[in-house]
Amino acid sequence: MDEKRTILVTGGCGFIGSNFVRYLLGKRPGWRIINLDALTYAGNPANLADFKDDERYIFVNGDICDAALLADIFMEQTIDAVVHLAAESHVDRSIHGPMTFVKTNVEGTCRLLEAALKSWRQRGEPEDFRFLHVSTDEVFGSLGPRGFFTEATPYDPSSPYSASKAAADHFVRAWNRTYGLPVVITNCSNNYGPYQFPEKLIPLMILNAAEGKELPVYGDGNNVRDWLYVDDHCKALLLVLETGRPGRTYAVGGGSQQANIDVVRHICRMVDERLGRPEGKSSQRLIKFVADRPGHDLRYAIDSTRIRNELGWRPEHDFVSALSKTVDWYLEHSDWVDSVRSGSYRQWIATNYGKRVGKNSN
Ligand code: NAD
Ligand code: TYD
Repeated sequence: MDEKRTILVTGGCGFIGSNFVRYLLGKRPGWRIINLDALTYAGNPANLADFKDDERYIFVNGDICDAALLADIFMEQTIDAVVHLAAESHVDRSIHGPMTFVKTNVEGTCRLLEAALKSWRQRGEPEDFRFLHVSTDEVFGSLGPRGFFTEATPYDPSSPYSASKAAADHFVRAWNRTYGLPVVITNCSNNYGPYQFPEKLIPLMILNAAEGKELPVYGDGNNVRDWLYVDDHCKALLLVLETGRPGRTYAVGGGSQQANIDVVRHICRMVDERLGRPEGKSSQRLIKFVADRPGHDLRYAIDSTRIRNELGWRPEHDFVSALSKTVDWYLEHSDWVDSVRSGSYRQWIATNYGKRVGKNSN
């Protein structure tokens, strides 16, 4: 399917968004991308600086809550599909300030749905239009030690972040059932890879370990996440966009369950190797168990049978080698790291970690 298409990507300056724009321009060279991003603390146009003179790529600095701007974009451009990634995405930030999550994740998604529906109707309801909403497995709440999430798992979100994403998912589904808008939804597990903002577990731990700073592990470190390499996720998104069935949800998991403490130990070992740190000076000594996150979900794990069987998707990256590539990327991109760690980043680190009393791992 490589005829000319114009795709509106929201949140394309963030972690997954910038990886996805890069992936799409590589895989579908005939397509045009309009990237709408408000450039919050998590958005960085430098992530896509190499495309700034590429006529297939247009960047619009704006907010998905701005109905007038959305109307202009849909009027001026024939949008064939929307890939909606813009969101407030960090659970800990949602605990400290939930209302921005309601605004962007719920209201913003509804504004986008309204604008997309209007344009879709004005264009005679083309069958091949798609609204792909990128959501999270966190909407399903927490698993115990066994079992998997599937598309049929009831919603049971724990944090303001996951509650706002759950609300957004419901609205997206409602726009399909009520108005017929051809939507598809993906609920994926934790992503990792290049360009992830260093407030999330993996980049935070890589950089702290490299810089000899404490490695703050919440609770006992036994919470489990199902890690998905961002390229595998991008591949799933393009597949769902092109071949997913309208109205359908696809759960996307990396098939790599890891306890947080094991992820941190892998990172310590990899950083030690890169920096030539001897055993006595291993980064492991920096691990500190700190006060747990309130409402911390114990375990996420996805059964990806539907997307595997219906669309033929498989994750291609195994956790340890993709983590190793990710460690290299962060160690080799200190300019990028410096550019995203502004004064407001330092303020956030003080807010989130300042009051967590901890104990060392040994
Ligand atoms: P991110 O925080 O790195 O990036 C979010 C982007 O959205 C930023 O560029 C930001 O500037 C932009 N943005 C925020 N508010 C906006 C607004 N009001 N208008 C326009 N742009 C706005 O997030 P990410 O990790 O890349 O996640 C992308 C999407 O994937 C999110 O919807 C998130 O819920 C979902 N998701 C992420 C993960 C993960 O592990 N990172 C896992 C599951 C689902
Ligand atoms: P995170 O990257 O914030 O993703 P999410 O909360 O969406 O799963 O966190 C991943 C896991 O790592 C989660 O169980 C919380 C834990 N964590 C820590 O132990 N310490 C930290 O400093 C951070 C940011 C996360």
